[in-house]
Amino acid sequence: MKKVLVTGGLGFIGSSVVDVLIRNNYDVAIYDDLSTGSIIDAYPGCIVFTNRVEDANSLDLAMSIFKPEFIIHLAAQISVEKSVNNIVDDALTNIIGTVNIIKLARIHGVKKIVFASSAAVYGKSDILPIPVSYEGQPLSPYGASKKTAENYLKVAKELYGIDYVILRYSNVYGPRQTSNGEGGVVSIFMDRLIRNKQVTIYGDGFQTRDFIYVEDVAKANLKALQYGKSGVFNISSTTSTSILELMGLIQEICMDTLPPVFGHERNGDIKNSVLCNQSSIDSLSWTPEHSLKQGLLKTYHFYLSEKMASVNV
Ligand SMILES: NC(=O)c1ccc[n+]([C@@H]2O[C@H](COP(=O)([O-])OP(=O)(O)OC[C@H]3O[C@@H](n4cnc5c(N)ncnc54)[C@H](O)[C@@H]3O)[C@@H](O)[C@H]2O)c1
Repeated sequence: MKKVLVTGGLGFIGSSVVDVLIRNNYDVAIYDDLSTGSIIDAYPGCIVFTNRVEDANSLDLAMSIFKPEFIIHLAAQISVEKSVNNIVDDALTNIIGTVNIIKLARIHGVKKIVFASSAAVYGKSDILPIPVSYEGQPLSPYGASKKTAENYLKVAKELYGIDYVILRYSNVYGPRQTSNGEGGVVSIFMDRLIRNKQVTIYGDGFQTRDFIYVEDVAKANLKALQYGKSGVFNISSTTSTSILELMGLIQEICMDTLPPVFGHERNGDIKNSVLCNQSSIDSLSWTPEHSLKQGLLKTYHFYLSEKMASVNV
């Protein structure tokens, strides 16, 4: 069985990645500091190392024990807002954490690192959908730290021969998401509508996003491990959905008719964001399998069962 260390494997996306790997007969260990992830989401039987990626000694120990051939590196500071208010912490986790992973991957003979990057590396673009070849300019410390980590991975391939696959996710949504992430709008809307509370839309609601279901993202990570080379890919639906359209779909699913409240547009919000996934389809043989409606339905059933479980406790 091939051995994969998944950093951030107790988080929203990481726990789905672990599910997919185990179902495909990989031997998986998790490295996660539990800052936003939950031990409840640990896969039964999986080794879990609980420490920070900034701690190189602890990472070293984990790799000496588990001896991974591959690393899927998802552990990160994920909030754009926090990155603006605490630029150093963001850099320590997202840049130094990734540099530690690279240093120890070299020492322990890891063949490939799959890295969770983001649409935030592109910043604003007049070209939509944004092709993976678009250079772009990050607008936040979060986007800059992800871009810097990408650059380190490319240097590591040249210097040490470690393969990399960089996956730039658009807005990921689905079960187990908290309201912190980049796709957090789905979990916020759904959580409020299930509890019969009004939703606030910041701006006019015509801003568009590219929503991708978490199981499709997890499968992209599997394809990235199986891909014979290094490369950079957009993991997205390539479909623009306005926040008003999203709201309408969620209302239909939740059978809710409460009108939304409109708040001021938030500073730094990008008006339209959509990523072109064609090269992922061509080279990784990956295609998103869930339409937005299918993904939202699965997400709704998850939140509903969580709500029922909390009522029955
Ligand atoms: N959710 C999205 O829409 C989205 C979009 C683009 C990119 N990403 C990237 O995907 C990855 C996973 O994001 P997510 O949405 O699942 O977030 P999440 O917060 O649910 O998961 C992150 C996991 O990493 C762990 N972690 C955080 N800091 C750590 C540290 N310093 N050391 C060790 N573990 C640490 C957390 O405990 C958590 O389990 C991140 O790298 C994020 O930047 C997410």
